[in-house]
Amino acid sequence: MFTYSCDDRLAAVLARTNSQVIQGNMKRIEGLLTMRGLRVILLSMTTALAAHAAVTKATFGTMPDGTAVDIYTLKSDAVEARIMTYGARVVSIKTADRDGKIGDVVLGYSALDGYLADLSTYFGAVVGRYGNRIANGAFTIDGHEYHVPINNNGQSLHGGIVGFDRLVWQAHAVNGGVEMTLVSKDGDQGYPGTLTAHVRYSLVHNALRIDYSVSTDKATVVNLTNHSYFNLSGDGTILNDEVTLPADHYTPVTKVLIPTGELPSVEGTPFDFRKSTAIGARIGADNEQLKIAGGYDHNWVLRGKNGETKTAARVYDPASGRVLTVTTTEPGVQFYTGNFLDGTKYGKAGESHAKNTGFCLETQHYPDSPNHPAFPTTLLKPGETRHSTTTFTFSTHAK
Ligand code: GLA
Repeated sequence: MFTYSCDDRLAAVLARTNSQVIQGNMKRIEGLLTMRGLRVILLSMTTALAAHAAVTKATFGTMPDGTAVDIYTLKSDAVEARIMTYGARVVSIKTADRDGKIGDVVLGYSALDGYLADLSTYFGAVVGRYGNRIANGAFTIDGHEYHVPINNNGQSLHGGIVGFDRLVWQAHAVNGGVEMTLVSKDGDQGYPGTLTAHVRYSLVHNALRIDYSVSTDKATVVNLTNHSYFNLSGDGTILNDEVTLPADHYTPVTKVLIPTGELPSVEGTPFDFRKSTAIGARIGADNEQLKIAGGYDHNWVLRGKNGETKTAARVYDPASGRVLTVTTTEPGVQFYTGNFLDGTKYGKAGESHAKNTGFCLETQHYPDSPNHPAFPTTLLKPGETRHSTTTFTFSTHAK
């Protein structure tokens, strides 16, 4: 059996959540007592228990240096999610469509080799130390200039050449989930400070929740996110999926996909997803920003305060009826439509990973924040612990 040891800070967050749940349940129980009696209470308690995922662990493969890679399966009454220790990656998420047919809704590979050979997609990974781009791979903290690897068109992408997506994380099972831990040494990929990152995946009923927690021993910059590619039909294109992004502004980019620093309104542009719109409806529009990125690959400025839970996105797939709702405490979301998928690699069911066969909703701080003082800061100082939470909820919608 697993031991349920966990980080104190995460435990405090969970304790708060649990006490809210308990208080809510007590109110419901009082109501039920007066309304329908003991049988109903027992039924509701059984359902609540069943909603928490069962957790099992197995071996997924071995790294070239002999390090074992484990995979954890979280199984609730509604969803099965598998997460491996290489890159703390989501390998599969199985949910029912509107007819009850189960399908895998994320792109990936059936074996570790596929992930090791793929150096460009970041399928399912936690990316870091800095998710998305840093201009020219350079930034300054307290007057000291730091240089991190340039690995994308003259810029630094997703933490450098050996980012967090390519490392094997330590892991242990927790109640309903798995907690992954990575200690990135001072100077790792050029970033200052020893960074300790805890990423906890937990599954309750139809919601896969990711809790991030980071601390450092020297001032550094950090921006962790999850890079899962969703395909809610289980195969084929994502262009018919209908997307809502509750954001009034976005961060346009230069030709090398670095934010210009402006935060224009989405009004009257193909970036206006305030009303549900098919991804393909405007992706080919005569728009400079769409041309630069070959589709959508931009950061949307979410409404509400940084740190408060808000809706980041809702996606409805008319073919399967599946609905994905994303909430986050992060200030932005990178909506990426798989523009660089080139069809040369094949997935778990032998499907081609072609352009626009998956979309990402990377909840995050804005790209290149270290070089934009007006953006919400990604600076992390010693003595601070930064938490953030993103939840992916799966449901269905009738025709
Ligand atoms: C992010 C970036 C994209 C691309 C993918 C990985 O979403 O914004 O430009 O690099 O990662 O292929």
